[in-house]
Amino acid sequence: MTSLSEKVDRIEESQTIAITSLAKKLRAEGKKIISLSAGEPDFPTPENVKQAAIKAINDNFTKYTQNEGTPELREAVAEKFRRDNGLNVKASNILVSNGGKHSIFNALQTICNPGDEVIIPAPYWVSFPEMVKLADATPVILQTKEERGFTFTANDLRPLLTQKTKALIINSPSNPTGSVASEETLRGIAKLAKERDFFIISDEIYEKIIYDGNKHFSIGSIPEVQDRVITASGVSKAYSMTGWRIGFMAANEEIVKRASKIQSQLTSNASSISQAAALEALKGPQSDVEKMRVSFQHRRDVMMERLSGIDGMTLAKPGGAFYFFPSVKRLFGKSNGGQVLRNSADIASYLLLEAQVALVPGAAFGSDSHIRISYAYAEKELTEAVDRIAAAVTKLR
Ligand SMILES: Cc1ncc(COP(=O)(O)O)c(C=O)c1O
Repeated sequence: MTSLSEKVDRIEESQTIAITSLAKKLRAEGKKIISLSAGEPDFPTPENVKQAAIKAINDNFTKYTQNEGTPELREAVAEKFRRDNGLNVKASNILVSNGGKHSIFNALQTICNPGDEVIIPAPYWVSFPEMVKLADATPVILQTKEERGFTFTANDLRPLLTQKTKALIINSPSNPTGSVASEETLRGIAKLAKERDFFIISDEIYEKIIYDGNKHFSIGSIPEVQDRVITASGVSKAYSMTGWRIGFMAANEEIVKRASKIQSQLTSNASSISQAAALEALKGPQSDVEKMRVSFQHRRDVMMERLSGIDGMTLAKPGGAFYFFPSVKRLFGKSNGGQVLRNSADIASYLLLEAQVALVPGAAFGSDSHIRISYAYAEKELTEAVDRIAAAVTKLR
């Protein structure tokens, strides 16, 4: 048979698959597995949003919409970006897509040429390097340090810049580390982007989940770089709407037109019903967003205290999103009588088998000495999971 696409060979398979299949197998055997691996809020979608979708169906709002998104939703997104993020945008600067992931994919396809380099700070969200490769560009990884809360500055970027640097991807608050970039840092990066002429893709999907009175800052609000920043966000995390698949980008009109052209040949518009729901999410009462944020902050505090007590794990305090990314390096070389633990996948398998807690090995996010723990779960489940993890770690010699 003739050969298949080599591009697909260059893309990594999701590294979470092994642990997920093992968790499934154990569950089927009747084991009470607690999974702390999901990247989605555990709350239901707000009632007003669900009702808006039901109304859309009953009103037969079930046909193709404009490829870029309905005019009402594009205007609502523009208004949200002006109000919450300080972006200088109109509806024509907005493209509505099938989830935040799709917005980032569109952005990369729109700006990259073969051989271009895109800088990705590690630890990174799993899809960034693979999406860069799908755009025929090369991911260039900037390693950040746990001691500095996984943050980085313009000076850290300088050594990685080349003639081929096309863009930098920023994700604040971050999945998987929960780190938040300060306004000062972002201003420094913006200055560098202008000086050295590169784009910034700012993935702000966790913008509403930010703690300790900090305010989210959007790099696209800096006038000097507004035309070279593509801001990606969506309703998935803020409104607990992961399954509805609505994301959006704000960018200069030329980029939006080109990204829209790509989308028109791939998916066309995002679901009409989901767009009606997203419109209500953005324009309706915002109290559920704050309720969820407060709850995540409380869970973070409870988890921070408990996880800090586990000997062998060290962790930075997350400033946003809903993940911990503790280092498990000090557990390497140890065992509980069986296999010696050597990397993040070994630790994740050990905790699954011994503690019956499923979490994601850090290797998936570009750091093999960490594990990712999601705390988008009920407090009772979280505390039981940490107790089990602590007991399993104590058994290691
Ligand atoms: C950092 C980051 N960006 C983007 C997304 C994608 O969001 P969506 O579900 O809207 O496609 C996720 C989802 O996990 C994420 O963690």
